[in-house]
Amino acid sequence: MIDKIKELIAEAEAFKAETKEDIEAFRIKLLGQKGIVKQYFAEFKNVANDQKKEFGQVINTLKNTAQNKVNALKEELENNTQDAGISGDLSRPGEPIQIGSRHPISIVKNQIIDIFSNIGFNVSEGPEIEDDWHNFTALNLPEYHPARDMQDTFFVQTNPDILLRTHTSSVQVRYMEDNKPPIRTISPGRVYRNEAISARSHCFFHQVEGLYIDKDVSFADLKQTLQYFTTELFGKSKIRLRPSYFPFTEPSAEIDVYWGLETETDHKITKGTGWLEIGGCGMVDPNVLTNCGIDAEEYSGFAFGVGIDRIAMLLHQISDIRLLSENDVRFLEQFKSAL
Ligand code: PHE
Repeated sequence: MIDKIKELIAEAEAFKAETKEDIEAFRIKLLGQKGIVKQYFAEFKNVANDQKKEFGQVINTLKNTAQNKVNALKEELENNTQDAGISGDLSRPGEPIQIGSRHPISIVKNQIIDIFSNIGFNVSEGPEIEDDWHNFTALNLPEYHPARDMQDTFFVQTNPDILLRTHTSSVQVRYMEDNKPPIRTISPGRVYRNEAISARSHCFFHQVEGLYIDKDVSFADLKQTLQYFTTELFGKSKIRLRPSYFPFTEPSAEIDVYWGLETETDHKITKGTGWLEIGGCGMVDPNVLTNCGIDAEEYSGFAFGVGIDRIAMLLHQISDIRLLSENDVRFLEQFKSAL
């Protein structure tokens, strides 16, 4: 009997199987409730005492060999199935697909585009590497004008005429040069300023600038438009226009929105005042219209520019502007549910 079991061990070691069914049949034959191993164990009491020890050892070896064989064959089959692709196990659950998310800057930019397209504004775009004319001179900022220092500029080395745009007002100049009034356009895009990087400001950020030119446009139209915008975007209509100076608008103002002071991030971003400065605005200076080939006697208009980054920080409670450009997936994944 012991010899017979040894033969079975050798057989089990040599056993090969291609399919799940073959492996299962092998398992049942050897290890099942009525399998060979069980039957031999049942024989144990009939074995002569001096053979019991050896008998016990070989039957255990048979049991372990069979069990190891079944495990090894199953694992092999599983790996093969993975390689086999479509012809493998079609009932396997699918691999989870990593779903991307929109960047918070894009989310807010798209919201702003939607809000303005509802009142007839289109979207215009222009180059990030600009020439002096479109970024400064046409906007009533001739060479050596002190207001050029308001925006610390990155110049492209060796050519002082070429620079990284400091605002998307440059796109408005291009748009006015190419289109006749009435004009209603917004220009979203990335802009660059040589500023120290901190939690609140960066050397590049994003703006949406708006331009409206027609006959008889007034400051009241500007204020209404801004109020509509902040109500749509923030659900808050309390705004404040603080007199300011921009060379390309006259009169000019800074736009503040009353946001409130509910969270720590609110405190940080509004510097503890509850008011958030979102950008600048004003009536387009007639010189700018003339520079861009528009009759300043016949037409007037308003312009505004808002920073997207700070708005995104408030809306999504982001306490450090640098998070927006570090591309940490743990940060970006939090925006999966946003549109
Ligand atoms: N271009 C200005 C800036 O970037 C913002 C602005 C736009 C101000 C339009 C007035 C009118 O600071």
